[in-house]
Formats: sequence, C-alpha cells, structure tokens
Amino acid sequence: MDLFQAITGRRSIRKFKPVPVEPAKIKQVLNMARLAPSWKNLQCWRFLVLTHPGPRALLAEAFPDDNPGKKAIASAPCIIVVCADPAESGVENGIEYFVADTALAFDHLCLAAHGLGLGTRWMGWFNEEAIKRALDIPEGIRVVGITPLGYPDQSPNPRPRKELAQVAFSEKWGAPYQ
Ligand SMILES: Cc1cc2nc3c(=O)[nH]c(=O)nc-3n(C[C@H](O)[C@H](O)[C@H](O)COP(=O)(O)O)c2cc1C
Repeated sequence: MDLFQAITGRRSIRKFKPVPVEPAKIKQVLNMARLAPSWKNLQCWRFLVLTHPGPRALLAEAFPDDNPGKKAIASAPCIIVVCADPAESGVENGIEYFVADTALAFDHLCLAAHGLGLGTRWMGWFNEEAIKRALDIPEGIRVVGITPLGYPDQSPNPRPRKELAQVAFSEKWGAPYQ
C-alpha cells in the first residue's frame, strides 16, 4: 500500500475481530510512530501497550458512556495509550508543542497500522486522571490519546470533510484556493 492509499483508506474503527495482533506488527507500528518529527527532535512521546485483559475494565470506566469508541476499549485485542512528557518538548506563542509532537507520532501509528491491515481509533474524550490512576502513569506525564488496535470487523464509509476551498486560501486570507 502506498502512502496516498494509506491516507485515503484509513478509517476510525470501533469493531474489532477477537484475534490477537502479532507482536511483530505492534512493534512495527510503534517504530513508525517514533519516526515522526518533533520539537527540537526531543521525541517527548511515550507509548503504553496493553494486550492483557487486566486493567481494561478500569480503563473503560474512564470513558463516558456516550463516547462512541468506549466498547472497543474493553474488547479490542490491543490498546495503545499515547502519552507525552511535556518536559521533553517546547512552548512557543502559547502553543504547547508536546500535543503536536505526540499527535504526529499518533497519526504515523494509525497510518502504519492501516498499512498492515489493522484498525485504530484515536480517542481523546476520557478522564485523564482516571486513566493515569488505572495504569499507574507517573505524575508529569500527559495522556494525549488512546487507540484500540486490531483487525477491523467493519468497513466504515469515509466520513465527510470540508471542501478544500473552505480550508485552503490562495495569496489572501479567505480567498479560496481553487
Ligand atoms: C483528537 C481526536 C480525538 C478523538 N476522540 C474520539 C473519541 O473520544 N471517541 C471516538 O469515538 N472517536 C474519537 N475520535 C475519532 C474522530 O471522531 C474521527 O477521526 C472523525 O470522526 C473522522 O473519522 P475518520 O477517522 O474515520 O476519518 C477522535 C479523533 C481525534 C483526531
């Protein structure tokens, strides 16, 4: 699969087959994530991989019931908790770049997973303190997102996107890029 196919074909997945993910594939997606660019190349990201059922129930409790991806947290064969150490990134113009660094790594991870036939779903709507308690994540570390990882058991249609002209401008702010 080439890069353009990976970008256009990726979907957020919430139903996974009850099939374990091969450890070599988990390692491969993590290796692709850590190739992302970052503030001063400080690589503030950290990944916590969960393949045992142990803390799952506690983890799922940290998500609101109306979060559409909640069920996958309890049932997917693998969960990756994507964290950051903000001390290993920078702040400029009020922008905390640990979020950007980690989001880039997260997206690399999702695209690489798709390239291997695996599904992901970035989840950010959770109680961070409850996640940290459930997983014993140290004080200064931030939880930027969480994704289930597994073989998709659904093929969702693409979700809509704004038109290019609504989000890209030519020469002057507001002049649609055609
Ligand atoms: C920062 C971020 C947070 C998200 N949080 C959640 C979430 O908590 N629960 C969920 O079901 N989906 C979540 N999503 C998935 C989005 O809903 C999904 O990416 C969007 O609807 C577009 O669909 P697609 O990924 O299939 O293109 C999140 C995505 C991003 C980028």
